[in-house]
Order: sequence, then C-alpha cells, then structure tokens
Amino acid sequence: MNGPIVLGIETSCDETGIGIVANGVLKANEIASSVEEQARFGGVVPEIASRAHLEAIEPAIERACATAGISLTDVDAIAVTSGPGLVGALLVGTATAKALSIGLGVPLFAVNHLAAHVVVDELEHGPLPEAVVGLLVSGGHSSLLSVRDGGLDIELLGQTLDDAAGEAFDKIARLLGLPFPGGPWMDKAAQEGDAHLVEFPRGLARDESHRFDFSFSGLKAAVARWIAAETKAGNEIHVPSVAASVQEAIVDVLTVKAIDACVFSGVSDLVIGGGVAANSRLRVMAQERCDARGIRLRVPSPILCTDNGAMVAALGSRLLTRGVPESPIDFDTTSTMNVSLISRSRE
Ligand code: KG4
Ligand code: ZN
Repeated sequence: MNGPIVLGIETSCDETGIGIVANGVLKANEIASSVEEQARFGGVVPEIASRAHLEAIEPAIERACATAGISLTDVDAIAVTSGPGLVGALLVGTATAKALSIGLGVPLFAVNHLAAHVVVDELEHGPLPEAVVGLLVSGGHSSLLSVRDGGLDIELLGQTLDDAAGEAFDKIARLLGLPFPGGPWMDKAAQEGDAHLVEFPRGLARDESHRFDFSFSGLKAAVARWIAAETKAGNEIHVPSVAASVQEAIVDVLTVKAIDACVFSGVSDLVIGGGVAANSRLRVMAQERCDARGIRLRVPSPILCTDNGAMVAALGSRLLTRGVPESPIDFDTTSTMNVSLISRSRE
C-alpha cells in the first residue's frame, strides 16, 4: 500500500470503533457496540461502556487489520479520541493507543472527537474546501462551527444552551415509549406519521442574540405537556405523528441556522456530522434548503455519522500528512475538550 497507514481508535461512548486509513483512503471500519447492554437502562452506563470496550478492543483491532489486509507492523501512526467523552471509556482507547504507539515505535495523535466527526467527510467526498460551515449534531453536542484549513482550524460559532439534538431525540423517544437510543427509532416511526399534527416550538429560532445557538429542552417540555393534555382528554397518542412533528421541529431549526451561518460567514459549503446527521429528514431538508440557496451540502454516509474509528483515522491521517507534531505520550484524557483544540500537543 502506498502512503501512510493510520489506525484510528474511538471509545468515547458506547461504540468501540477501529478504523484504518491508508493514503487517505478508508480500508477498514470495525464497530462493536454495547448499545444492547445499555438499552435496558435507557441510557449509557459509563461502567458498562468501559468494560465492553475492554472486551471488544483487541478483537476489533484484529478484525480491522484483517479487513484492510495489513499487519499491525505496517501501521505508520496511531490516532485516538482523547476527548470529549466518558473518561473511563476514553481511557480504554487511549491506554491501548499509547501501548501500540510505544510497541510499534510509531507516532501517536490524541485527537478531538468533534473535529473527527467533521473531517470524516473527506473519506467519501474528497478534501474539504478552504472554508466550510460545520453543523455537528450528536448525542452530546449541537454546534455550528467555522471550519478552515481542511478541518485543522475550527472555531465555535454557536452551540446548544441545554440539551443536544440527539439528546432531545432520545429523551422525547422515551416519553413516547420508544427504545434507546431513541434517535433512529424516532426517524423510523416518523416515516409513517404526519409531521404537521403538532407545530412544536422551534427553540431560539428568532432570537438574534442567540443567532447560532440552539435550545431543545423547551421542546422536550412542550411534548411532555402535549402528551399529558391529550392523555387527560382521553385521546390516543399517535406515536408516528408525534415523532414526525418533533423531528420536523428539530430539523427545521438545525437547517435554518446552519444555512444562516453559511450566509453570515460567506461560505458556500456546509458539512453535517455526528450521529443525528444519520437522520433521514435532516438529510432531505438540508439538501432542499441548500439547493435553494446555492450552497453545496456534504453529509457522510450514516455509518460514518455515528461514532466510528474511521473518523479518528481520517483526522490522524490529515495531521500526519500535514506534519503536525505528534502528541506527547503522557497526554491527558478528559471528559471535555474545546472544539478548537484539534489534537493534543505538548503545551
Ligand atoms: O455521534 P454519536 O454516535 O455519539 C455521540 O458522540 O453522541 O451520536 C449519537 C446520537 C444519539 O442521540 C442518537 O439517538 C442519534 O445520534 N441518532 C439519530 C439517528 N441516528 C443516531 N438521531 C436522529 N435520527 C437518526 N437516524
Ligand atoms: Zn460522536
């Protein structure tokens, strides 16, 4: 194989992801998920996630190497998510990455999970233009980003003031009796529903002082109130139509603000990343609204939107080829990490 081979490790939440990128091309993307073990608790239990990572990580690395047709000694660099995420879960990945880096004698890049969610798009749609707007929508984050220099220079334009978009999907799904994680179930249920059954609030849609910020906790409260009132009145709740109406409210405000951020920044490319970017209605509405404004839309395939190791390998590959200094072996693993810090370097 020509060009550097980078192995990426992702363990920030409940997916153990191992990706291999060779010369900028995706060769393997192995994912082992503990979501079924988490489902009965209705959320991610950190200790269960950490233990599941411990069990899954070595076999996942072996499978990824087999799929890519390489042996570990062919790897030129290791990249690993060092934050943000659950510390116990992150530690499994970072400890493995440090051991591999020392054992193989190759550089190590401790990367930012959020930046990786944006840069992963390059694996499918080629290099990012010099300036793009990133809409990052996951279970833990909802942010609008100014992304420059192929993802190596990221600035926060705005973010959620309370719940993340994925969190809103998950919490409202729970109110509707749908399984965890609720986002994909809401998406599925909504396909059979009437999105205009209820006009739920679009948080901060017209608040100029929070032009690029989001708020979804009011939506969750409005849905709870609506369900309580309907139940009290003896009306049956049509779950697909409530799911569709909620999805419409979330997707509407996300796309309006993302396009406004493009116009404001004078950029004509929008990248959407993170688990919620797998949402079918978000993909359709974003495309329609981008087309109407002459904005090019880039959204990775759903499997690259939810947490995976390919995104970490993609960012590691970019850092390596751009000559960015490797991370020190004693880098910290922390639950929070500012999106503008793309990878950990010696302070
Ligand atoms: O990026 P991700 O896999 O993990 C985090 O970094 O948080 O995102 C997970 C989130 C969950 O809240 C999940 O419900 C949501 O993404 N999600 C979806 C869909 N697929 C995943 N939300 C709406 N529609 C989907 N199809
Ligand atoms: Zn994520």
